[in-house]
Amino acid sequence: MKKVIKNGTVVTATDTYEADILVENGVISQIGHNLSTEGVETVDANGCYVFPGGIDPHTHLEMPFGGTVTKDDFETGTMAAAFGGTTTIIDFCLSNKGEPLKDAIQTWHQKSKGKAVIDYGFHLSIGEVTDAVLNELPSVIEKEGITSFKVFMAYKNVLQADDETLYKTLVAAKDLGALVMVHAENGDVIDFLVKKALSEGKTEPIYHALTRPQEIEGEATERAATFAGLANSQLYVVHVSCADAVQAITKAREKGYEVWGETCPQYLVLDQSYLEKPDFEGAKYVWSPPLREKWNQDVLWNALRTGQLHTFGSDQCSFDFKGQKELGLGDFSKIPNGGPMIEERLTVLFSEGVKKGRITLNQFVNLTSTRVAKLFGLYPKKGTIAVGVDADLVIFDPNIERTISAETHHMAVDYSAFEGMTFIGEPVSVLSRGEFVIRNKEFVGKQGAGQFIKRAKYGETYKM
Ligand code: URP
Ligand code: ZN
Ligand code: ZN
Ligand code: ZN
Repeated sequence: MKKVIKNGTVVTATDTYEADILVENGVISQIGHNLSTEGVETVDANGCYVFPGGIDPHTHLEMPFGGTVTKDDFETGTMAAAFGGTTTIIDFCLSNKGEPLKDAIQTWHQKSKGKAVIDYGFHLSIGEVTDAVLNELPSVIEKEGITSFKVFMAYKNVLQADDETLYKTLVAAKDLGALVMVHAENGDVIDFLVKKALSEGKTEPIYHALTRPQEIEGEATERAATFAGLANSQLYVVHVSCADAVQAITKAREKGYEVWGETCPQYLVLDQSYLEKPDFEGAKYVWSPPLREKWNQDVLWNALRTGQLHTFGSDQCSFDFKGQKELGLGDFSKIPNGGPMIEERLTVLFSEGVKKGRITLNQFVNLTSTRVAKLFGLYPKKGTIAVGVDADLVIFDPNIERTISAETHHMAVDYSAFEGMTFIGEPVSVLSRGEFVIRNKEFVGKQGAGQFIKRAKYGETYKM
């Protein structure tokens, strides 16, 4: 039925104002003052912000990785996302070298269909660029609506692609209208440093960080950006963790290259010292790129504030501590990389960013939703509050203080990277296309209600 959201403060990437929002048939049909409540369900947002639903550009749900599979799937992962104020995710579909891309896409549809509680799209990883792959790419974009490709410069002998592949992907993406995403770390150098450390008996989780120094994230970022400039193409650097990578992006942009950067909650709040926790607990904090020395956090905040970084993704990639992270007991290189982040993405950026005066409220919306929608072909269907767009809305209480714990989070994973930490701000109710998914902090959504979204080409708007 029709709903009117009353008394809230509407926040977009550009404006903050008091207004009522009328929702009809899944879209926003009116924004104004004193909208009639007759025959309409009234939702009181007094004292709350109303944000466009969060869009998470970076998730790995039910993904095989490091000899195991991520714990959260499209059901638990999207439920947790919704609790956290996210109404759309873009998940990474992994292709296998030598296999048709359409098989990989089919596999990802099977994982998600009938499970997701919010809308979703896919990025597609490219491991090699053969004639067969080049022949398939146009239909991946036009028919499948997958308009972003991911190339890994790390994870040697597993996911890593070579420079030729990256360059060819950039060239193809320019021709076809896609955005190329990179995991930027020099996998060859890492492989050498890891083997050397293990041969010296250095097996603890902290050596994960020490064998992936920030110089080689900076180097890979600069290399990818150089290729993007040379190919006159477009590049999006995922999970930027450190000063060296921020500098590489800034330098490329100063030359006029089209290079975008994403960072994630873990890099803003946690640091390298967490990997030194005793009893193997450091394994909970193993990400690639790794958590950095704390001083890098100021550089990342500055980059978010000044526009050198552009989006905020979760890099949700959860593994249980028991049984999964423990695969790396006695050998840090066998610890599955990644952590649970999908649920806390908005709260962390709001609490640490907006509340602490590091970014504005409108920048918060831009980083968590609007800019993501624009870069990934979802705008304006998703990513803003305006008449005619999807009623994906978050009613957010900006004053509530809460302590994070695995006991109370909604992800399936057995630990929280933020256990015991306190943040300010929490989604109270969340709507996806006009229907409540979260209502007064209770899940009221439906498994399978989420729709797959075929996205517009890079640089184009979504045709409604
Ligand atoms: O450690 C991480 N980031 N795991 C997820 C896979 C990736 O590299 O994004
Ligand atoms: Zn209804
Ligand atoms: Zn990565
Ligand atoms: Zn990732």
